[in-house]
Amino acid sequence: MIFTVIVTVCLLGCVTATEDDNWEATVSDDLLEFMRTEERSQRLQQELQGMEFPKLCRERRLRIFDFDPLACSVCRTVVGTVLRARKLGFEKDRFVFVLKNLCTWLKIEKEEVCEGVIRHNIDTLIYIVDNRPKLKASQVCAIVFQNLQCKDTSLQEWSLALPPYEAHNVSLVRESKFQNEQNGSFRIVQITDLHYDPEYSVGSNTDCGLPICCQNGSVPESEATAAGFWGDYRDCDPPWNAVVDLVQHIKQEHKNIGYIYFTGDIVAHKVHDTSKDRNTKDVTKVYKELKKVFGDIPIYPVLGNHEAHPVNQFTSEDVNPDMEISTRWIFSLAAELWRDWLPPEATKTILRGGYYTALVRPGFRVIALNSNVCYSYNFWLLYEGSDPYGQLQWLIDTLLDAETNNEKVHILSHVPSGDSSCVKNWGREYVNIVNRFSHVISAQFNGHTHWDDTVIYYSNVNRSEAINVAFNGGSFTTYSLLNPNYKVYDVDAAQMDVTNFESWTYNITEANERSSDTPKWYKLYDFKSAYNVSSLHPQELSRLVERMTKEKSLTQSYFRYKNRDADPTIAKGCKSDCELENICTMVTSAHGDDYHCKMYTRMYKKNRR
Ligand SMILES: *[C@@H]1O[C@H](CO)[C@@H](O)[C@H](O)[C@H]1NC(C)=O
Ligand SMILES: *[C@@H]1O[C@H](CO)[C@@H](O)[C@H](O)[C@H]1NC(C)=O
Ligand SMILES: *[C@@H]1O[C@H](CO)[C@@H](O)[C@H](O)[C@H]1NC(C)=O
Ligand SMILES: *[C@@H]1O[C@H](CO)[C@@H](O)[C@H](O)[C@H]1NC(C)=O
Ligand SMILES: *[C@@H]1O[C@H](CO)[C@@H](O)[C@H](O)[C@H]1NC(C)=O
Ligand SMILES: *[C@@H]1O[C@H](CO)[C@@H](O)[C@H](O)[C@H]1NC(C)=O
Ligand SMILES: [Zn+2]
Ligand SMILES: [Zn+2]
Repeated sequence: MIFTVIVTVCLLGCVTATEDDNWEATVSDDLLEFMRTEERSQRLQQELQGMEFPKLCRERRLRIFDFDPLACSVCRTVVGTVLRARKLGFEKDRFVFVLKNLCTWLKIEKEEVCEGVIRHNIDTLIYIVDNRPKLKASQVCAIVFQNLQCKDTSLQEWSLALPPYEAHNVSLVRESKFQNEQNGSFRIVQITDLHYDPEYSVGSNTDCGLPICCQNGSVPESEATAAGFWGDYRDCDPPWNAVVDLVQHIKQEHKNIGYIYFTGDIVAHKVHDTSKDRNTKDVTKVYKELKKVFGDIPIYPVLGNHEAHPVNQFTSEDVNPDMEISTRWIFSLAAELWRDWLPPEATKTILRGGYYTALVRPGFRVIALNSNVCYSYNFWLLYEGSDPYGQLQWLIDTLLDAETNNEKVHILSHVPSGDSSCVKNWGREYVNIVNRFSHVISAQFNGHTHWDDTVIYYSNVNRSEAINVAFNGGSFTTYSLLNPNYKVYDVDAAQMDVTNFESWTYNITEANERSSDTPKWYKLYDFKSAYNVSSLHPQELSRLVERMTKEKSLTQSYFRYKNRDADPTIAKGCKSDCELENICTMVTSAHGDDYHCKMYTRMYKKNRR
């Protein structure tokens, strides 16, 4: 859902079919010539005309391009030209020139957006290209655009060794009860994807054709496109008053919160105009507010891809932190802002890679990951050989300790492992770890997609056995076409299993209609009642998916709740493609493993005939 403007993304949607086998080579030659002479040949002009970027890409519907071999061909052409040009000795200004022109000619974005995004990323890209001379265009496309099914067989796969499974230890963990723990349950609140926008302005233009609207200074064409007091369904992030209302409401409504999980993304979607200073200011402001309002209630935060500047970039450990391209600063900031909630040892791993662990209380541990490293728009994946920041190896070691010490674990991270933009090698390794330690991991919590989703992990050995679950928090931001959301989980104090959760929201249209009142938050649903399940045990959730393949009322409810009853989205409806996409999301824990997606799709087609 996170719309990232980069030139190559956008070239993908635009090409009309061509019969010419030499198309890649010809366009590449013409582009190179253009870079050299700054003159657009007639032929290039014609080639580009066929490639004008349709409105689709702007609307973050990249999924519809799935399985488009032509998209990969365009990616290879553009990336291949850039790699070639660098080897030929072209300098940075030439790349900026050609990319900026391509971006505007193809109507990918308005000039200021093209310019901003290229300016932020060009040094990173050049550094990577210069330091990875063997990098091939096909490899770049297979990573950055894996969600478009671009493939490359020369891509080096990596894997991590898992410690052997000792049945004795496992049964120990399964039987363990916390000695000094009272029976019963406690509640955890999950807040995610705030995307607070300091430049939101009431009455500004909500329909502006940029990655983010509702900006101070913009003028709407009519009343219908004027930004409201609490936010807007279109491409707008929330104003400060909405963020304050969220935290005040949670504080007043829920008196028995044990912990708060914040699963990332504080900074607004103004991706073409971020900076270290700006991001630092917004991130600091939000964490200070959380601290002020929630006081002694511990908060366990993770980083979102939007906290970084340039957005999505998490530089390799090799890069000198003093270099301008380094994004190490975000780790220092996180270490400082999170200090009050975490043990002192956490600082070390946060500074290394933005991840940490904390023993919440005896027998219960939180592991917070920086899964943004797996996001395919993190260009450092093109540079990194394997396991960025040694994070997954550390995860194995930490889970092994937890297993030995009879602890239960909640894993928190921003990008879900099964997201189509989480690189499949990382996702697969992560799933293997969850497999090995599923008896230790009581639940996982993610954000990033902005949707309220429930994702099931299955055993690698017995593919019918559901072994774990990740709860995806719905975003607080309404970006895009969503109502605000947060979730409250009931957790069993002995096993740390999630026994139920509630989802809260408000109707943004209604809130804006009576803007002098605070928004009317309400409980949208609780999972057990909404889906008539006896528990949220992975196996019971798997049975729910099976029921969803039969009962339309279930898939329709899922759709409504996923989007929090936001009128403009609900109005679009959810037909079979949409129902199947939701089902597949529920059973996909790593991109590239579509075993369960295929299985339930077959079942759906049979049952719904
Ligand atoms: C805790 O649960 C056990 C077993 O179910 C029960 O015997 C005990 O009375 C409970 N303790 C409290 C404090 O509720
Ligand atoms: C909006 O922009 C104007 C100038 O363009 C500035 O004076 C004003 O302080 C801004 N308001 C906010 C809330 O940022
Ligand atoms: C299993 O438990 C034994 C004894 O409790 C311990 O010595 C051993 O290190 C544990 N093994 C693992 C893999 O945790
Ligand atoms: C696989 O898991 C399912 C669900 O838990 C179970 O019913 C089945 O017996 C298992 N199969 C094997 C071979 O263990
Ligand atoms: C949201 O509020 C608007 C305006 O009051 C109303 O028309 C609409 O039906 C509401 N939507 C839902 C789902 O209640
Ligand atoms: C809920 O499930 C139970 C057990 O499967 C069933 O007996 C009951 O009729 C269901 N209730 C509703 C409202 O569907
Ligand atoms: Zn987000
Ligand atoms: Zn995100």
